Amino acid sequence: MQTVTFDSAHIHPFVSPDEFTAVRQEAFTAQQSLFRATCRGNDFLGWLDLPLQADFAGIRQAAEELRACARYLVVIGIGGSYLGARAVIEALSSSFRHPDGEGMQVLFAGHHIGEDYYAELLDFLADKSFALCVISKSGTTTEPAIAFRLLKAYLEQQVGRDEARRRIVAVTDAARGALHDLAQQEGYRTFAIPDNVGGRFSLLTPVGLLPIAAAGFDAEALLAGAAAMRSLCTDCPDNPALRYAAARTALYRKGYSVEILANFHTKLHYVTEWWKQLFGESEGKEHRGIFPAGADFTTDLHSMGQYIQQGPRTLMETVISVSSPCRRMAIPHDPGNLDRLNFLAGMRVDEVNKMAELGTRIAHIDGGVPNMAFRLPELNAHTLGQLFYLFELACGISGCMLGVNPFDQPGVEDYKNNMFALLGKPGYEQASRDIKIKLENSGTL
Ligand code: PA5
Repeated sequence: MQTVTFDSAHIHPFVSPDEFTAVRQEAFTAQQSLFRATCRGNDFLGWLDLPLQADFAGIRQAAEELRACARYLVVIGIGGSYLGARAVIEALSSSFRHPDGEGMQVLFAGHHIGEDYYAELLDFLADKSFALCVISKSGTTTEPAIAFRLLKAYLEQQVGRDEARRRIVAVTDAARGALHDLAQQEGYRTFAIPDNVGGRFSLLTPVGLLPIAAAGFDAEALLAGAAAMRSLCTDCPDNPALRYAAARTALYRKGYSVEILANFHTKLHYVTEWWKQLFGESEGKEHRGIFPAGADFTTDLHSMGQYIQQGPRTLMETVISVSSPCRRMAIPHDPGNLDRLNFLAGMRVDEVNKMAELGTRIAHIDGGVPNMAFRLPELNAHTLGQLFYLFELACGISGCMLGVNPFDQPGVEDYKNNMFALLGKPGYEQASRDIKIKLENSGTL
C-alpha cells in the first residue's frame, strides 16, 4: 500500500527528544480514551468507525440516478456539511474542468450569504440541467436554508415540481429539523447523518460520499484509504496521527500558538480549508487552542513568506506535499536563453517545486519556525482517505490533550443569536430589544 508519511524530525531543537517522548506517551493515553470512549464528548465518536461501516450501495445508486437526470449538481451546505466534499472533489478534478467528463460538474452554494453569488449562480444555471444535494445536520442553518429556498424555487420553475422532486436529495438528521420535515413533506430522497457524528467529522457519511460519487470519483477508495489508516493507527502506538498530535501539542506548550498548514500542490487548497475548520472548531475553546492558518505554496511565499521567515516566533509549520504528480511536464530548452532559464532545461516542473519545498523548509527552520511534514505518495482517493482519517484522529487526540471537548462548538451560536435578533426572528424578541440598546449605547445605531 502507498502510505501517507509524517516527518517530525524538524521539531527538534525546539522540543527536546525527551520532551517529545513524554508528550507521545500522553498522546497514547488520549488515543486510548477515544477508542475506549472515555474522553470528553464521547457521544460524538461515531466517526472513528465510519470507514468500517459505511453502507455504500444506496449512495452509489443515488449518485447514478442524479447523473442520469442532470449534468450539474449544486451541493448546498456550510462548514462540515460541505468542506470535506469540496476538498476531495477539488483535489481530484482537473484544474480546468472538462464539462463533458463522466461525473457531474459540482457547484457549491449555501456556504455564505452572498447576493451577487446567487444571482450569478442562477444566471449560470439558466440553460443547464441541474440537480440539488442539500446537506444540513441540524436542518436549521440559515446559509444553506436560504440557498436551498432560492435554488429549489428556480429548479421547480425550470422543470416543474415533480421532476424537481426527482432531482433533489437531502442529507440531514434521521428524525429532526426543518430540512428533515421539508424533505418528508416533499418526498425527497433522504440520507441520514448518524447522531454520533458531528459536522466536521462527517466526510465519510453521505455528507461527503454522495457528492464525491456523483462527481464521478472513487468514494469507495476514499473509504478504503481511511480504513487502512484506521488499522495502521489502532495497531501501532507510534502511528502518524499520534505523532502529529504529540508534536503540535509539544510545540504549543512551548508558545507556538499558530500552526500554518502549507501545501505544495495547487489541488490541496480545500484540504487546507477543511483542516482549518476541523482543528479550529475542535480546539479553539475555553481560551485555548492552536490557531490554524492555511497557505498555498509557493504562491503565498510571495505574500506571507516574509512574515513566516521574520515575524513573531509563534508559528509552527506543517507542510503537505505529493511525491509524484499525475502528469509529467519538462521545462523546454530555449536557444536564445533570454530568460536565463536554461539551467532548468529538461527538468520536470515538479523537480523545481520539490527544491522550492526543501529550500523553504530549511529557511523556515533556520528562521525559528519548527517544521512538520506530510507526504502523499500520489494524489488519489485512497491517499486522501488516509490523510483525512489521520487528521481527524490527530484532532481528537490533540483536543483531548488540550483538555477541551473537541466535538462541540458552543461559540458558533453567538453570531447566530445576534443575527436572528437583528433580523427579528420569532422567539428572539428580548434579544432583539437588548441588542438595539447595546447598539444605541455604542453609538452604532
Ligand atoms: O462541524 C460542525 O458541526 C459545523 O461546522 C457544521 O457542520 C456547520 O455549522 C453546518 O451545520 P449543519 O450541518 O447543521 O447545517
